[in-house]
Amino acid sequence: MQTTTIKNLNNFTGTVLIPVFETYSKSLVPIEFQGVSVASKVFYGKKDTHYMIEKYDCVHIFIGLGKEIDYSSLKTIFRRIAYNQKESFGTNVALVLPEQFSPEQVEAAISGLYLGSYDLGHFKKTEKHPFLNENFELALISKKDIANTISKAIKIANAQLETLRLVDLPPNTVTPKYLSNWANQSGEKYGFTVETLGFEACKKAGLGSFLAVGKGSENEPQFVIMNYVPKNVNAKTKHVGLVGKGITYDTGGLNIKTSAMLDMKCDMAGGAAVFGAMQLVADLNLPVKVTAIVPCAENAVDAKSFVASDVIHSYNGTSIEIIDTDAEGRLVLADGLSYLIKNFKPEYIIDIATLTGSAMGTFGHECAALFTNNELVSKKLQESGDAIGERLWPLPLWDCYKSDIESEIADVKNYSGKPLAGAITAAKFLEYFTDNHKAWAHLDIAGVAFGNDEFAKSKHATAYGVHLLTKFIENL
Ligand code: BES
Ligand code: ZN
Ligand code: ZN
Repeated sequence: MQTTTIKNLNNFTGTVLIPVFETYSKSLVPIEFQGVSVASKVFYGKKDTHYMIEKYDCVHIFIGLGKEIDYSSLKTIFRRIAYNQKESFGTNVALVLPEQFSPEQVEAAISGLYLGSYDLGHFKKTEKHPFLNENFELALISKKDIANTISKAIKIANAQLETLRLVDLPPNTVTPKYLSNWANQSGEKYGFTVETLGFEACKKAGLGSFLAVGKGSENEPQFVIMNYVPKNVNAKTKHVGLVGKGITYDTGGLNIKTSAMLDMKCDMAGGAAVFGAMQLVADLNLPVKVTAIVPCAENAVDAKSFVASDVIHSYNGTSIEIIDTDAEGRLVLADGLSYLIKNFKPEYIIDIATLTGSAMGTFGHECAALFTNNELVSKKLQESGDAIGERLWPLPLWDCYKSDIESEIADVKNYSGKPLAGAITAAKFLEYFTDNHKAWAHLDIAGVAFGNDEFAKSKHATAYGVHLLTKFIENL
């Protein structure tokens, strides 16, 4: 798709998208746009409604926004139009941007429109969305100078589209190697460096907790390390560290899952959010240094798999008693966090992971669980999330939960063995590997990374975290 900005619709033929704020159903004044009018009885801008009419060689789609609208609803409305109305899109679409739209609203509308091209049918022969045609033209009608906003909106959508794809593609495509290849290609294209440690290099480095998880898989684990350094670094340049859980499939291991295994291709969604955020940070040339680690492995069932009661040794020298092989995410994150802290010493650290069923049990699909002892990080993360509809809510990191993961044979155990406070005890486990870092936050996204919505019949990715992490970095 190519995007142009024009000041008016003179000589335009094609599909015209006209967002309309709500008026009044009994208003005598019709909704009107350049000679095309709709009686208020039929359409008056109510949220989640639209009205289509063909006139003057154009298909006009009036889109209801309600009286006021938040970022994520606006984005969803435009995604819906692009997704559902593609039959009415020929080779071009014009979007009329209302004068009262703020830059954020312009961003949400354009990002949403781009996301509407996403379809789960990656392996189908069916025709692709018209937006994916190189020659398709999107004309944006605005009297303001919105060039930077447009470019940012497209970059956000492109990063989210990558993350959606990485999560939704099946685990026999998205192996750890696939993810490290993706990182290499994205790094080359957008400007960040990538180093990957394969099995031998991980063994040499002592990443024992990470390697234990991948032992039962045919697919070699990959410990992916990415670095983005902005232009003009100086003493004040902030440095953020990210760690994302990259379990390409979670069978549970020998403690094999008895439910919801079908969804477990989503277990690399934290890693995919970090990959998307890395692409976006670099694409936006943000003036912050970012180091990101995604430990990628498959938790498989095999004679070579690790077993419950094994004691393994992590990168920072901690011995870990395995109580349950299904509590594998915290094991790969443990080494990711320790490696990041020891080798890169970032000022801020955020890890993001589909870590526990308990986070989903607590918050459903509405928000991620946030764990941090740093008030500033907590505030900035929540503010960033609220602004774009990727919400977070805090849970405690109190030390009273620490006794649950005390082991008798080793320094720590990977699970309490009790189905209580699962998200919190998992976070306490991670804390063990943060070397008392003063600005660490953990995001458990098990409930928000993957689910049902109007854009497919089966559960699929949401790209939660890509924009949140980037906005947090931007707002530091
Ligand atoms: N990958 C799962 C968590 C998960 C659950 C992600 C639902 C997405 C949706 C994780 O590795 C896991 O299995 N957690 C267990 C831990 C338990 C065995 C200590 C859980 O939460 O039940
Ligand atoms: Zn698991
Ligand atoms: Zn898992």
